[in-house]
Amino acid sequence: MSLPTPASNASPYALQPLLHAPSPDEAWWRRAVIYQIYPRSFKDSTGSGMGDLAGITAELPQIATLGVDAIWLSPFFPSPQKDAGYDVSDYRGVDALFGTMDDAQILINTAKSFGIRIIIDIVPNHCSNEHALFTAALAAAPGSAEREMFHFADGLGEGGNTPPNNWSSLFGGSGWTRVQNPDGTPGQYYFHLFDTTQPDFNWRNPAVQEEFEKTLRFWLDAGAGGFRIDVAHAMFKKEGLPDWGGAPDGTPRPGFPFADAPMFAQPELHQVFARWREICDVYPGEPVLCSEANVRPLTRLADWVAPGQMHQSFNFDFLRTLWDRDALASVIGDSLSAFDTVGAPTTWVLSNHDVSRHATRFGLDGVALDLGDGIGPRDPQPDTVRGLARARAATVFMLGLPGGAYLYQGEELGLGDHTTLEDGFRQDPTFLRSNGERIGRDGCRVPIPWVHDAPAYGFSPTGESWLPQPEDFAELSRDLQKADPASTLNLYRKALALRSELGLGLGSLAFYENPELPEVLAIRNGDTISVLNLSDAPVVLPAGEPLLFSDADGEPLAAEGLLGANAAAWLRATD
Ligand code: GLC
Repeated sequence: MSLPTPASNASPYALQPLLHAPSPDEAWWRRAVIYQIYPRSFKDSTGSGMGDLAGITAELPQIATLGVDAIWLSPFFPSPQKDAGYDVSDYRGVDALFGTMDDAQILINTAKSFGIRIIIDIVPNHCSNEHALFTAALAAAPGSAEREMFHFADGLGEGGNTPPNNWSSLFGGSGWTRVQNPDGTPGQYYFHLFDTTQPDFNWRNPAVQEEFEKTLRFWLDAGAGGFRIDVAHAMFKKEGLPDWGGAPDGTPRPGFPFADAPMFAQPELHQVFARWREICDVYPGEPVLCSEANVRPLTRLADWVAPGQMHQSFNFDFLRTLWDRDALASVIGDSLSAFDTVGAPTTWVLSNHDVSRHATRFGLDGVALDLGDGIGPRDPQPDTVRGLARARAATVFMLGLPGGAYLYQGEELGLGDHTTLEDGFRQDPTFLRSNGERIGRDGCRVPIPWVHDAPAYGFSPTGESWLPQPEDFAELSRDLQKADPASTLNLYRKALALRSELGLGLGSLAFYENPELPEVLAIRNGDTISVLNLSDAPVVLPAGEPLLFSDADGEPLAAEGLLGANAAAWLRATD
């Protein structure tokens, strides 16, 4: 292989003006690294095949050595588990699958002793059809106070056989389900943005608002460090529930801009968030509110993190970006510019429980996956070696950006999805409601490996696992990675320690322009240069003292002034 050399002594990297200034204050949430735990799949302490809270508590030292500020726990509340716990039947308890309220309290307290906050996942858009409020609504008459807690409406046309409007469920099919009257005749319909078993609350009803304020206080009193707000953009629906001809998830289409979607981003939301912020602000330790809000464009999402609103919002535009230098540069620039207008930090995220893991996505060249769609055995399979190299590089680059960052359990091991999971094991309602047309999200939710030669790779003491694990989990197990200095786990540890030491989360950003290197993205954050090589060949590095490389060949290549293919580096600027 012939390696490139600079055409002249002039560096191809020209520093551009500062785009984002250092953070105005040092609040923890402005720079926080938050580790998402999906309780079903983290660690099973009982041998049931389902992860649990005691399992998480037992492994807190592992999370502490990673160096994160907080843990976001996906739902562990009582639930019929029709949508893996995002169908809640009691917001102020713990499902027996995961343990007891005592286990939750022990987890919160133990995490605190490690300096780690616990962020609770609140699901305010909808509950389970087994929630007491919904069963009471079913038992009550049309027009009753009980039914007013939800969106009940009469059908249209003859016999009321047509649903009240044309809204779809995001999991496929109609968004309306018809109930039966006590005499067995067909009754009203209720709206559910997700599964039939997940009725949407009517947020225009103050009784719904009071219910959730109680829930927030309940968890804050227990010592929670804040909340991740599920589907926060859908809580209010436009008065009158008008028909909508746009995409069910609000993806803009000609004639149907996101701004007109009657089920998303309604202005009344902001009063609720302001109230929630007031509630959180009374508690010590600055409990954080982070919205899962699929709102476009980023300039509009900025309203969600304006003063007095949420602290943070997930950056789905960043998560959706393909392995493409210009696309990444624009989303980074646009995110910082948008959030800077309201003085809020940007967050960065590459993986979560709803989307194919980034080690898998980046192994599929140029394929854009919709959120909620994974990869199944009948799909083209990813190049796992290239996917992992790119995933490591993308993470290092992401952690070099100013703002907060979210990590998803198992990404520190370089896990990809289980892309050959057989249909019979699938549990995601997306798969079930679309008759298998959409493969769904089970592939990224597989229990993670701890010990390479133990049953279920150490996930459970009995070898039980609610989803089968792929064979490559053996070589990716945590025990092997702890012992290997070049492992992905040790890369994450080093990067997180260095990020904190260099204060990158609170830092600034200026891009380097490099027309000779169209597949290289380089930024400067304070004195740190962060470079991402998105090409399949080595490129010339900017001048600087090497601090960290995402690839094992990083150091020897740097000695020749080069950065490897699909790799990232941090350097200390020497000018
Ligand atoms: C959120 C959750 C997802 C869930 C959906 C419905 O998007 O992240 O897992 O299916 O809400 O609650």
